[in-house]
Amino acid sequence: MDIKDNLQKMSKNDLQWLYNDIYKSNTYKNKKEIIDILMKPIKTSVNSFLEISKWDKNNKNIQKQLKKILKEDKLTSWQYLKKIPANQKLIFLIDKYDIILSFIHVTKVTKEELQFSFSYTPKDKRRKGYNKQLREYIINKYQKIGVSDFTSIPFDGANSEPLLIKLGFKKEGKKYVYRISTNNTSIFTI
Ligand SMILES: CC(C)(COP(=O)(O)OP(=O)(O)OC[C@H]1O[C@@H](n2cnc3c(N)ncnc32)[C@H](O)[C@@H]1OP(=O)(O)O)[C@@H](O)C(=O)NCCC(=O)NCCS
Repeated sequence: MDIKDNLQKMSKNDLQWLYNDIYKSNTYKNKKEIIDILMKPIKTSVNSFLEISKWDKNNKNIQKQLKKILKEDKLTSWQYLKKIPANQKLIFLIDKYDIILSFIHVTKVTKEELQFSFSYTPKDKRRKGYNKQLREYIINKYQKIGVSDFTSIPFDGANSEPLLIKLGFKKEGKKYVYRISTNNTSIFTI
């Protein structure tokens, strides 16, 4: 089996690790361009998920795109996080060219509760199922590591309300809750 076959079988996460390893151990001036060219054929055509808990040089492109989107859409209901607090994350769905398709700001309220604090899909990408896909990914991943309550408190009339209902969230007062029980651990296919 050749190297290309092996690389194609690796997950995006592992490829990212490999990329970082090569990046760190390589001393060529234009090493980033070299690695990008080498990796291009093995970047699959599917979209992928990216979790960011700290802004650094590896996610500069996303940071730049996010600022541009927020400025262009004149978004006022959410503030760009210069520093991401320790219990929070920004989780993105990106396409094969690393273009943002949708993102969610999540807060780990307690060990068991993860709250969807704010979600956003750029205007020209809405109603394609991107935000739903992202939430399903998060629920599927985090339930495996002990989160049992996925919550959200959308403002009145927010577009995310029908989305939460579609995903099976139940309204408890102002809060929408998706509670994991042993009976519904595998409803999502991702
Ligand atoms: C809310 C938001 C993130 C949804 O993103 P999206 O990627 O377009 O959502 P999806 O395509 O995954 O929607 C999945 C389902 O949710 C529901 N839904 C999503 N947007 C909806 C809307 N504007 N009106 C009614 N239902 C909607 C639908 O049931 C939809 O399925 P369908 O298209 O097959 O009918 C997006 O509209 C947005 O960024 N809005 C502005 C910011 C905002 O209001 N954020 C929410 C506050 S936290």
